Amino acid sequence: MSEKIHKVPDDFATLAHLRQADYQRLYQESIRDPNGFWARIGRRLDWIQPYTKIKDTSFDEHDFRIRWFYDGKLNVAANCLDRHLLKRGDKTAIIWEGDDPRLSEHISYRQLHERVCQCANALKSLGVGPGDRVTIYLPMIPEAAVAMLACARIGAVHSVVFGGFSADSLAGRIADCGSSVVITADEGLRGGRRIALKENVDEALKASGTQCVKHVLVTRRLGSNVSMQKGRDRWFEDLLQGQSKECPAAAMDAESPLFILYTSGSTGQPKGVLHTSGGYLVFVAMTHELVFDLREDDIFWCTADVGWVTGHSYVLYGPLANGATTVMFEGVPSYPDAGRFWQIVDKHAVTLFYTAPTAIRALMREGEEPVKQWSRRSLRLLGSVGEPINPEAWEWYHRVVGDGRCPVVDTWWQTETGGILISPLPGAIDQKPGSATLPFFGVQPAIVDNEGNMLDGVAEGNLVLIDSWPGQMRTVFGDHARFVETYFRTFPGKYFTGDGAKRDADGYYWITGRVDDVLNVAGHRLGTAEIESALVAHPKVAEAAVVGCPHDVKGQGIYVYVTLNLGETPSEELRTELRNRVRQEIGAIATPDFIQWAPSLPKTRSGKIMRRILRKIAANEHDQLGDISTLADPGVVDSLIRERLNGSD
Ligand code: WT7
Repeated sequence: MSEKIHKVPDDFATLAHLRQADYQRLYQESIRDPNGFWARIGRRLDWIQPYTKIKDTSFDEHDFRIRWFYDGKLNVAANCLDRHLLKRGDKTAIIWEGDDPRLSEHISYRQLHERVCQCANALKSLGVGPGDRVTIYLPMIPEAAVAMLACARIGAVHSVVFGGFSADSLAGRIADCGSSVVITADEGLRGGRRIALKENVDEALKASGTQCVKHVLVTRRLGSNVSMQKGRDRWFEDLLQGQSKECPAAAMDAESPLFILYTSGSTGQPKGVLHTSGGYLVFVAMTHELVFDLREDDIFWCTADVGWVTGHSYVLYGPLANGATTVMFEGVPSYPDAGRFWQIVDKHAVTLFYTAPTAIRALMREGEEPVKQWSRRSLRLLGSVGEPINPEAWEWYHRVVGDGRCPVVDTWWQTETGGILISPLPGAIDQKPGSATLPFFGVQPAIVDNEGNMLDGVAEGNLVLIDSWPGQMRTVFGDHARFVETYFRTFPGKYFTGDGAKRDADGYYWITGRVDDVLNVAGHRLGTAEIESALVAHPKVAEAAVVGCPHDVKGQGIYVYVTLNLGETPSEELRTELRNRVRQEIGAIATPDFIQWAPSLPKTRSGKIMRRILRKIAANEHDQLGDISTLADPGVVDSLIRERLNGSD
C-alpha cells in the first residue's frame, strides 16, 4: 500500500458540492436513518406517483427481499429527457465523436427527446410493450442511446450486448431473455476496422432458442451492403421516419425492470443481471453528481462502451438524469494515434474524464509526448474504474494527464451494484493512489475471513456488503435461486462481492482483485468456466483449465492449460485453432494470451483442479506454490513447471 496521500486541492474543495464534514455527517445519517435519507434523495427525480414507502430489504435467505421506493411510479426516460426540456431543451445532451476524428455531432435534449419518442412509437408498432425484452447490439452511436431510452419510455426491458461479443454469445443472450426484437447496425467501426454486426445477428438467429425474435431493426452506420430477411429485417431509419415525435411515457412501478445486462460469474454461463427503475436511477444520478462533482456547464466523458454497465450508468442514465452533457465516443484510444483521447478532450472542452486503468497503462507506454501535444486545460477531474489501478498508473494519470491539478477518483463497483459504491468524493476525501477510499452514502462494506467472521479495524479478507443500497441488482433474470445462491449463500445474510480487500488504519479500502474464478482482462469480466467450456468443446481437447496471469497493460492475461485426448499431438496449428475457437464462441476479448500443453492437471484426490497452483505456475512464481501435499499426483506440478520454463508458448 502506497502511503502517499493526495489532499483535496483547496480550490477544488471550496467549490465542491460536499466537503469533508459534509461527508461524515451525511454518511452517518444514511446509515442511521436510511428511510429518511433516501426519501429526501429520491425527490431529485420526477415521480408520476410519489412514493411513501422507501426501503424494504433483507439479505436473509428465508426472508429475502430488495425493494426501494416501492409504491412510487415513474418513467426513467421522462426523467432523462422530458423534465429537462423547459430549462435545457437546447442544451447538448450527447456529443457524439466518431471513430473518424473528422466526425462529430451535437444532439440537444429536445432532439434526443424527439428521436426517442419516434423510436418508442416504432417499437410499439411492432407490438413491443411493458416487460418485453429488446436486445440491442450496436456500436457507440447515438442510436444506442435512442434505443435504450425508447425501451425505458414504453416500459420494455433492454438487454445491450457489447458489439465485441461473437454471434454465439449474442445468441445465448437473446435466447436467455427471450427478446422479440433485436436492434443492430449494418456494421460498426472501431479503430478504422469494420465489425460485421448484422452478419453476426444473422448468424446468431440461426441458433436454437432464438425463434423468439420477430423483428430485426438495422441502422445504417456505414451504408454497407447487408442481406435483409424479408418480413423480419427492417431499416431503423425507415421505420422511425413516419413516427410521431410525441410518445407518452409509461407510468412504471419503481420496481419494474429497466434492463438486463449479462455478466460472467465463476461458474456456468453469463448471468442476466436485472436492474429496476426507481432505485437504480436515484442511485446513478446521485453518484454521478457527487463522485464527479458535476456542475451545470460540465462536459462529462466516460469512455466505456454502452455494452458494459459503466456505459449504462455513466455514459447514459446518470448524466442524462442530471441534465448533463455526455460524450459518446465510437472509437479507441489508439486511433488514429495515441493522442486521440486528449485531442477529443480539447475538441469538446471535456471537464470530467472517466476511463479504465488498462487504457491509462497502454497510453503510459507511449510516453508523455502524445499527451503533452494537447492542452487538456478544460479538465478538472479524472476518474478510474474497472480494476485496481496500480499507484504508478495513478500517479502518471494525475501528474501527466491532469498536470497535477485534477483530483483522481478511483471508483469501485460492479455490474451487480448498478453504480459506484466505494470512491473518493473529490472535495471531501483525500486520495491515496491505489485505494478506492471510503464508501458512498448508504453503502456498508465489511471484511470477513473465509469462515465469515467480521474483521474489525485494519484487516484483509473478503469484501462483503451488509445492507442494501438503491442501485443493487434485484435478481438474475429467470433464475432467482441462482441470484440468492451466488451472492448471499457464501456468507449468509451478506452480499458477497467476489473481491478481496484490505482496510487500512484510516478505514480506507484497497481492492485486491477477484477471489473467485472470474478474470478481469483489460477491465472486461470473463468467467474461466466459459472459456474452458469453449475449449473442451474441441474434439481434440480432453480437459482445459484457465487462470489469470499478470499482464502489463491488460492487468490480467488469459493463461490456458490444455490436456489433449490420448493420441493427439500438440502443434502450432492446433494452438491457433483453439485460440480461434474461443474468439468465435465468446469474442475477441476472450482470446487466450498463452496456451500451455499439459499432459495432466494438478488435482486434489477428489478430482478438483487446483487453480491456485496453476496461477502460480502461470505467473512464474514457482517458489510460492504453497502446500501441494493434498494433490493426487504431485509429480504433475514439476512437469508443468518444466514445460513453462522451456517456453511452451
Ligand atoms: C469487478 C466488477 C464497475 C464497472 C466496471 C466493471 C473490479 C471495478 C474497480 C476498482 C478495483 C475494481 C472488481 C469488481 N473493479 N472497479 N476501482 N478497483 N477493482 O464492472 O465487469 O461488473 O466488474 O471489477 O473486481 O468486482 P464488472
